[in-house]
Amino acid sequence: MTEVKRVFQVDGKPFFTLGGQSRNSSGYNRAEAETAFRALQKLHGNTLEIPVYWEQVEPVEGQFDFTSVDELLALAREYGVRLVLLWFGTWKNGNMEYAPAWVKRDPQRFWRVIGPSGNPVWVLSSHCPATYEADERAFTRLMTHLREKDGQQGTVIAVQIQNEPGILGSDRDYGEAGQRAFESAVPADIMARLPKAEGGQVYATWQAAGARSGGTWEEVFGRQGGEYMTAWSIGQYIDKLAVAGRRIYDIPLYINVWLGEMHWRIAGDAYPSGGGVSQALDIFRWATPHVDLIAPDIYIAHPDGYREVCAIYARDDNPLFVPESAPYGSNAWNMFYALADYGAIGYHFFAIEHILDAEGNVNPQAQMMVDSFHATAAAIPLLLKYQGTDQIHAVVQQEFQGEQWYDLDGWVGLVQFGYGAFQYMGMDWRHPPKGLPMMADMGEARGRGLIFQQDENTFYLVGAAYRLHLRRKAALKEMLDPMMVSTFHQPRQAPYISVDEGHFDENGTFVVDRRRNGDETDSGVWVEPDCGVVRVVLTR
Ligand code: DGJ
Repeated sequence: MTEVKRVFQVDGKPFFTLGGQSRNSSGYNRAEAETAFRALQKLHGNTLEIPVYWEQVEPVEGQFDFTSVDELLALAREYGVRLVLLWFGTWKNGNMEYAPAWVKRDPQRFWRVIGPSGNPVWVLSSHCPATYEADERAFTRLMTHLREKDGQQGTVIAVQIQNEPGILGSDRDYGEAGQRAFESAVPADIMARLPKAEGGQVYATWQAAGARSGGTWEEVFGRQGGEYMTAWSIGQYIDKLAVAGRRIYDIPLYINVWLGEMHWRIAGDAYPSGGGVSQALDIFRWATPHVDLIAPDIYIAHPDGYREVCAIYARDDNPLFVPESAPYGSNAWNMFYALADYGAIGYHFFAIEHILDAEGNVNPQAQMMVDSFHATAAAIPLLLKYQGTDQIHAVVQQEFQGEQWYDLDGWVGLVQFGYGAFQYMGMDWRHPPKGLPMMADMGEARGRGLIFQQDENTFYLVGAAYRLHLRRKAALKEMLDPMMVSTFHQPRQAPYISVDEGHFDENGTFVVDRRRNGDETDSGVWVEPDCGVVRVVLTR
């Protein structure tokens, strides 16, 4: 892997953002927002993502009211956390729900997208200069406000410009200006980049359409021409906003994506057309040089699909940032792939309020997510140091998986899932193991976490429900020593100097909180979310 580009900074230092996103209607005022902050605390997160609504901050054209933003800043400071503000402006989920009433009521001035059969769609057109100007005025006022109210403290670490932009309901704008754009030649800038984009999906589309050296969008990209033209138009619209915003207050800006890997995979139907989906990502990225990140909202549960998306968005020109993911299920373990294998520079899940029950305690259904975040929070200094190197490894127990094998520097690692299956196999089928499950427990206790190797003889572990056994790589003869082969005795032969639970202080120094030895280390190095970071030091 290559060096990870750290987009987020706090006090001039790289910052790993970990937390959740509030529900859509939580940003209107303090009373609505506070639950999300309480949930973030329970999650051990450091950053809350929460919306700012165009309709709320500019209810009357030209009259701005940033009271809600000030309330969010105050709450974040009270809770000692950072904010990512989500600008719900022209687009929200391929829709125009958050445009102010005076925009919604005036389609003559603020053009709607026109669908294929001439029907207006409930989406603002990216081809309408008046809409751009209105959004720019509001967005730059927000950035001015942030510079004035937060320029010193830096509570807001980034702003998401728009939310899942694109068109739901049409592949492109069939109105006059949109049609003109569609019928015009693909810009020379794109044509010049295409041949070098080998391997990408835009390149493949271009090849499949005949690899022409120029022409209209349809000629160059076939049936995806409408989507690509829209991606270019929307990308440029948002990039222009980014330039205008940065001129005022230069903080990280990103755009999130409603992914295309779903249903019939038809642009404008299954997902908003014109967003930075994988099949249009190159076009969208080329259109947005002033935006730091194009960030996928990953709600995919299956590990293969999840990893595929990570691989697509983790690029040299685009470090992986996951601004939204599912608040449940397999995300509690898939996230470790993003962190270890794809260098994710931040990780959030959607609807953070749901981790709390009515009494404000962690909802039992959310415990697994909370535990994964707790473990990750402890490992942030290690993530900042080792992401992008081969010294970080994901531990993820897939369904039916009892163990995982690792080729480490100087060592072979064997991770065992469940609680003790390896040692207690029972005597025969009439005499099953007592008290402990024979098979790795596939239900509650999914093994998951991270293993870091600092140097040959020092490891750090975080996570839940797994044990690591280490055996030095050696000559086969030594490996086959009867004592070493014994599954019962082998863990007792691990040459530990020390096994400690601890945490990292502000200077990044490991502080020991608790030592383990004897019975506590005889069956491998185990981790649980409340153990913090477990450090293992070995010798020959
Ligand atoms: C993705 C959007 O970005 C969020 O605002 C929210 O609508 C979720 N989808 C709901 O699943």
